[in-house]
Amino acid sequence: MCGIVGYIGPNNAQDILISGLSKLEYRGYDSAGIAVGDGACIATRKKAGKLANLTADLEHSPLPGTFGIGHTRWATHGPPNDTNSHPHATENGDIVLVHNGIIENYLELKEGLLERGHQFRSDTDSEVVAHLIEEAYAGNLEEAVRAALAKVRGAYALVVTHKDHREIVAARTVSPLVMGVGEGEMFLASDVPALLNYTRQMVFIQDGDMVILNDDGYRITDMQGHPVQREVETIDWDAEAAEKGGYDAYMQKEIFEQPQALSNTLLGRLHDDQGSVELDIELDPNSFDRIHIVACGTAYYAGMVGKYLLEQLARVPVELDVASEYRYREPVVTDRTLAIAVSQSGETIDTLEGMREAMRGGAQTLGIINAKGSSMTRELDHTLYVHAGPEIGVASTKAYTSMVSAFLLLALWLGQQRGTLSKEEVARLVHEARALPRLISEALSDDRLGRVRAVAQKYHQARDYLFLGRGVNNPTAYEGALKLKEISYIHAEAYAAGEMKHGPIALIDEHLPVVVVATESRLLEKTISNVQEVRARGGRVILILSDGDTENVQHAEDVLYVPRCDEMISPIVNAVPMQLLAYYTAETLGKDVDKPRNLAKSVTVE
Ligand code: F6R
Repeated sequence: MCGIVGYIGPNNAQDILISGLSKLEYRGYDSAGIAVGDGACIATRKKAGKLANLTADLEHSPLPGTFGIGHTRWATHGPPNDTNSHPHATENGDIVLVHNGIIENYLELKEGLLERGHQFRSDTDSEVVAHLIEEAYAGNLEEAVRAALAKVRGAYALVVTHKDHREIVAARTVSPLVMGVGEGEMFLASDVPALLNYTRQMVFIQDGDMVILNDDGYRITDMQGHPVQREVETIDWDAEAAEKGGYDAYMQKEIFEQPQALSNTLLGRLHDDQGSVELDIELDPNSFDRIHIVACGTAYYAGMVGKYLLEQLARVPVELDVASEYRYREPVVTDRTLAIAVSQSGETIDTLEGMREAMRGGAQTLGIINAKGSSMTRELDHTLYVHAGPEIGVASTKAYTSMVSAFLLLALWLGQQRGTLSKEEVARLVHEARALPRLISEALSDDRLGRVRAVAQKYHQARDYLFLGRGVNNPTAYEGALKLKEISYIHAEAYAAGEMKHGPIALIDEHLPVVVVATESRLLEKTISNVQEVRARGGRVILILSDGDTENVQHAEDVLYVPRCDEMISPIVNAVPMQLLAYYTAETLGKDVDKPRNLAKSVTVE
């Protein structure tokens, strides 16, 4: 939610800021802006809409200078227009800032500032902070920022500069901020990919930290001004991983990266020779007797698969909640609860707060997380990284399949350690899981792509879609519906196939495409009975079938085949045609797949 960048060094600041923002646009694209200092003054340029609007403007009249700040916005306070765009400046233009987060007490602060004669240009909460800094400023920017933030309540990653100082001051509470350490130059950004073209040496700024950058390097302090030491970490993601690399969209690239992403998730964790699983976490497998899974959106659906896998393979009772409900429903948590957060970004505030709620109840916590160094990885007791690499596309794809694979590993490991699975069963499933990268490559073969594209084109004018699945593939239906609505804006609903007759069956008519996951499983016959119920009412059935299933073709108007595999790993393979159906539908409708309307990838507001 909003991306911010900062730069100070010998090079052209505008180019570096714009390059950084282009990697952060997934965080919001309601407007973009930069402010660049040249030693004498600070010039600001900002435009509503996507970053391209700003870059077109800068082409005609670039902003010269070697330090500056930038922002890409996901609007919260005030509509997306030029005025509400960041950076925000004081009336005299001396102080400029960019902000990601929400200032909760901004109305009360604004009232006071208005009484004291300040005039506001924008409707944003962020502008209030610029005025507070101005009030506190007496020649020292660092001290003024510190004094202003002492009055502020809420979440922020804030980057500030002043026309009279070749200096950038930044601070963080809740919203993410990472600092890049270059050779004679320093960088700031909301997320790692924005900096990969410039440096791999990064410091993850933590809650309550302030950082002061100048030509000599950096200092980190706490909010009282005491020095703080933070480790410089070397990030092993390469810059190319955050580029489109010849694909039309990041989402498309990330769909095709799944074989590699899954190899990375499984790497070093599956031991074929011993037929066992080893996890790089120090969790005592017998230290809990119930699990709570907490997540949002796609990560929640990965958690839904996790529930099936953990209960079936490890026989641990699992409760599953969307994070925004969990944190307020007063869940019953004990010191024998393992609370699992699932998150690509590791920053989603609802999930993080859900975990804090579990911690207050005495739970042990584990994160299934993609982003290295993110807030959750620091706050939770254990992190099982999914190692999917940077995911830029707003609609999650490779992170989903990697998260589900991480749940498979966890369930197998717990089943093995707690003795709920026989040695032979673990060895068999290890062997099956090992095949995942190959199975996903097969699911992405040209002929299959062609078939999904044809189906997408055939139904692209549908007003609604229904997705059905059962058992471990019930979540696959939910994830398929979410992907479709997110990027094509076609209304889609998902139901457990057996539940359809209890209401949603009323929706079925000859216009409704119904996607049914009907791959090899214990429940296949029951699923096919549900398909018959749809057919009998004229619904247009698109079946996802396992390769070689010639018997059930007769029940479908269209069939999408997927490689045959064990039921326990099938949700990972079956996610692929769902992702492709959404992608090709959006493509056919001419939608901007990487920038779906109203969405942002990292949701750091409640
Ligand atoms: C959907 C999607 C979102 C995220 C959700 C949680 O494609 O990407 O639903 O899954 O906002 O985000 P993370 O995983 O970063 O916590």
